[in-house]
Amino acid sequence: MMGTFLEEITVDDFETNQEKVYIFDTTLRDAEQTPGAALGIQEKLEIAKHLAKLNVDVIEAGFPISSPGDFDAVQRIANEVEGPEICALSRVVEKDITAAWKAIQDAPRARIHTFVGTSTIHMERITRTTPERTLEMAVDAVAYAKSLCADHPDATVEFSPMDAGRTELAYLYEVVEATIAAGANVVNIPETVGWTVPAEFGGLIAGIKENVPNIDDAVISVHCHNDLGLAVANSLIAIEQGARQVECTINGLGERAGNTSLEEVVMAIRTRRDYFKAYYTDINTKEIVPISRRVSRTMGIPVQPNKAIVGENAFAHSSGIHQDGIIKSRVTFEIIDPKEIGWQTSQIILSPRSGRNALKHRLSELGYELDSEQLEKVYERFLRVADKKKAVHDADLEAIMSDEIRTVPATFELDYIQVVSGTKISPTTTVGIRTEEGIVENASTGDGPVDAAFKAINQIVKIKLNLIDYQIRSVTEGEDAIGEVTLKVQDNGHIITGHGASTDIIEASAKAYIHAVNKLIQLRSEG
Ligand code: KIV
Ligand code: ZN
Repeated sequence: MMGTFLEEITVDDFETNQEKVYIFDTTLRDAEQTPGAALGIQEKLEIAKHLAKLNVDVIEAGFPISSPGDFDAVQRIANEVEGPEICALSRVVEKDITAAWKAIQDAPRARIHTFVGTSTIHMERITRTTPERTLEMAVDAVAYAKSLCADHPDATVEFSPMDAGRTELAYLYEVVEATIAAGANVVNIPETVGWTVPAEFGGLIAGIKENVPNIDDAVISVHCHNDLGLAVANSLIAIEQGARQVECTINGLGERAGNTSLEEVVMAIRTRRDYFKAYYTDINTKEIVPISRRVSRTMGIPVQPNKAIVGENAFAHSSGIHQDGIIKSRVTFEIIDPKEIGWQTSQIILSPRSGRNALKHRLSELGYELDSEQLEKVYERFLRVADKKKAVHDADLEAIMSDEIRTVPATFELDYIQVVSGTKISPTTTVGIRTEEGIVENASTGDGPVDAAFKAINQIVKIKLNLIDYQIRSVTEGEDAIGEVTLKVQDNGHIITGHGASTDIIEASAKAYIHAVNKLIQLRSEG
């Protein structure tokens, strides 16, 4: 039989000496490189705190040398986020490693992650170095990183031979052996371009185990990209061949087609514990859906509806036969209990009679911890929505949260909006915007009331945004539903995402636009 069904798994299905698979989250580094996903410091900090609640083992917080803003974000995460080891990325370059260490040195548990391309393609076309020189740079970088953290009570060094999947094997073994000898505690094997298929990648890890004499002195990690949709499969086979750390991201976000999806790899190990009986992770799976929603909203990247584990349809049953089966017994067509991953099946629906405590409690279950000032602000908004809608669902609350609790300073804020529109007149939108000098009003005509609103805002904020994407969706069903607008604007090579939510879509659009303006101002100030 292909495994044991969920309800039939017994203690005999577990091995007593289970080994832990460490979960290294790189949402704030690899996924943050995705176009449009760039985050401000406060947003990164909030996500890092949520990752700590999810109980990941390592948070790769950023690439400190890449910008002063990234340095500050990594430093704040290192100083303020408790629990996981905080990791900073660096090339095999002294100034990168120094910056990485400066940013994380005060974390109770710190890690420097240094990398260099080792495939012929990367050495010839990117670094333009010989294999001998690349090996030397890798060893020197690890040794230097090791020297920096020598006095820290709990610091580690990780080395990655980038594009390992296309690196000549004998050379890869040599590099891995030499970097472990230089002090690397973790050797990460990146499948940088998602080239290999599972049997090959499993063989690669087995080959490293077999051919690198000092391999037991380090933890083997894997970092798989999803160009052929094989990142999770490659990570799972790597575990079976000896890898004990998986690098992954929330919702599988990351460069190009993304990285290994954290939720898929964790839930594969947990759900098929009859098969992966020798392994476990320490992930608090109840936080999976809440953090997926949060990352999607904050980065402005919707989760595809049929995405495994966290997609909108992952637990939706539409055919009659399936619905009938589910009613008779859930396990007929569901291999995961949605409650295990924090999916609220029996949602508590709040109403205008719900008090602050009920709201606070529900928000905390959704992963949002509010101080009293924030709670007051959100409660006021909640009451306005509840008065209109009568029943406030989790999706409404999430929309309110992403709208009200801004992690970027509100340089500008929408105070009011009025629209005059019709079939035979040009639409005119008037906005009142709160600025440092008080409320400033402006009106403009446009191709529609939304375009008119954006033009009116441009003249007040004195920034003209280059809008490249605009999406509106209804958060819940019904005429009184909250509409959520997500838009993307381009500025100097950066793509910035803005969000706004309201039962009025013109207002939601204006809020999203102003949010993008505020984010742009903050990113410019962070450098
Ligand atoms: O994909 C990759 O190779 C990376 C390295 C920096 C580990 O992201
Ligand atoms: Zn990567």
